[in-house]
Amino acid sequence: MSLTFCNVHFTQQPQRVVYVSGSLMKNLKLSGKKSVHLRFGGERIPAAVKPINKAGKHLYLGSGIRKEIKIPKAGGVFLRSLQEGEVQIGPLIGVLSDGPTASASSPFGSRTGFIKQLLRYGSKQSYIFAFTPRDIHWENETVNGYFLNEAGNFIRKKVPLPDVVYNRLPSRRAETTTSITQLRERFIRRRIPFFNWSFFNKSDIYRMLEKDTLVGRYVPESIMSPTPDQIKDLLDRHSLIYYKPNSGSLGHGIYRLSRIPKSGYYARYRKSGKNALLRFGSFAGLMRTLQARHGRSLRGYVAQQGIRLIEIDGCPIDFRFHMHKNGRNQWVVVGIGAKKAGKGSVTTHLKNGGSLLTPDQALARAFGSRAEEVLKNAKNVAITLAEAIESHHQHLIGEIGFDIGIDMDEKIWMFEANAKPGRSIFKHPSLRAEGRASVEHILEHCLYLSKFRRRES
Ligand SMILES: Nc1ncnc2c1ncn2[C@@H]1O[C@H](COP(=O)(O)OP(=O)(O)O)[C@@H](O)[C@H]1O
Ligand SMILES: [Mg+2]
Repeated sequence: MSLTFCNVHFTQQPQRVVYVSGSLMKNLKLSGKKSVHLRFGGERIPAAVKPINKAGKHLYLGSGIRKEIKIPKAGGVFLRSLQEGEVQIGPLIGVLSDGPTASASSPFGSRTGFIKQLLRYGSKQSYIFAFTPRDIHWENETVNGYFLNEAGNFIRKKVPLPDVVYNRLPSRRAETTTSITQLRERFIRRRIPFFNWSFFNKSDIYRMLEKDTLVGRYVPESIMSPTPDQIKDLLDRHSLIYYKPNSGSLGHGIYRLSRIPKSGYYARYRKSGKNALLRFGSFAGLMRTLQARHGRSLRGYVAQQGIRLIEIDGCPIDFRFHMHKNGRNQWVVVGIGAKKAGKGSVTTHLKNGGSLLTPDQALARAFGSRAEEVLKNAKNVAITLAEAIESHHQHLIGEIGFDIGIDMDEKIWMFEANAKPGRSIFKHPSLRAEGRASVEHILEHCLYLSKFRRRES
């Protein structure tokens, strides 16, 4: 297979004809050929080939062709020569997301800015568009996509099914519906790579990793749907535990439970935007309060050994490791944010009064001259964790956001793996370049999955 970057131009020719410059003819091994099959996304048509005398790599598409296979615009793209006489134009990349309203300027809600950034970068070397589940027309296998025009605004264009889908569907609940399950299966059946498959569940990840001999040691001891006896036992052994919802996010519903001998049991949690702390004389009293607050939904909770994190000014710190797969299908740590908990907060979320630091700032305070070594080790652990999750998972994963803790003994702990990590760490002025690198990695990985990137043999 060969890959060539070229300039696509449009002509008014109504016939199914492509004009190909001399050097491009040679590159595509079309010299002497009269016809070619052109592929774009899920479309394929035959066309006549006419060589033209022009320096550089240029392809002129007659309107007959362009309309039929729905090439959205002229400009620089890749050509991939497949078997004898077949040339694929692309890649055609689809970013799947959704928004709360059907607004034309911001169809993807709070994700619109990130999606525009992806489209802006991606347009330089691909045909990239965003779409919602409602924009797919399965009968004629087309998508009414959102492209970005020169002015940075969305314009709708009908294109074939894409070569690869980057999934950023925002709703955990919607993702479990039959219509979304069916949507994913339809892409898979057509052999269109689809990543990431879906949100992760905390207990699925813990269960998957705790048995893994390589990474099990990085997962705090966890019990899914624990009975009160099991919670008490965990608390007796560790004196600090986290009690959290399986499919929660943003710290919602999380409790930090502790036992202090001769004093009693304590529960820290977030209530109406404030930090609450309750003391109980007995374990039964603590359980009664949790039952009263959550009832049956406690069945969807997991109890976990609490880790005593490193601290700055008495506030615990943990880290977001933003991982990507690169253009060679390898995991890399692309950005790290250190998150300092707000005073009295159970979690380090910025929404709960937390603040963002660079990892160097945080680790230098905690470990002094050992900081660099600790960070290097944590990066290696994060890569091993990502590889482990991928190897146990049945579907494609190209991005993971880990919540990682480090204790005073320099031990690394994984609290959560997010399949659709938020991007708030990249707002930190020192992490903007990492934010761009993250976008570049997503695109590189799309090129890899759609086979529009040279693979090392
Ligand atoms: N076992 C634990 N020990 C210490 N801190 C924890 C533990 N589990 C969670 N935390 C803290 O709570 C935060 C939120 O927990 P996490 O599992 O990421 O849930 P969420 O889905 O709400 O983000 C973590 O970033 C960390 O600061
Ligand atoms: Mg988290």
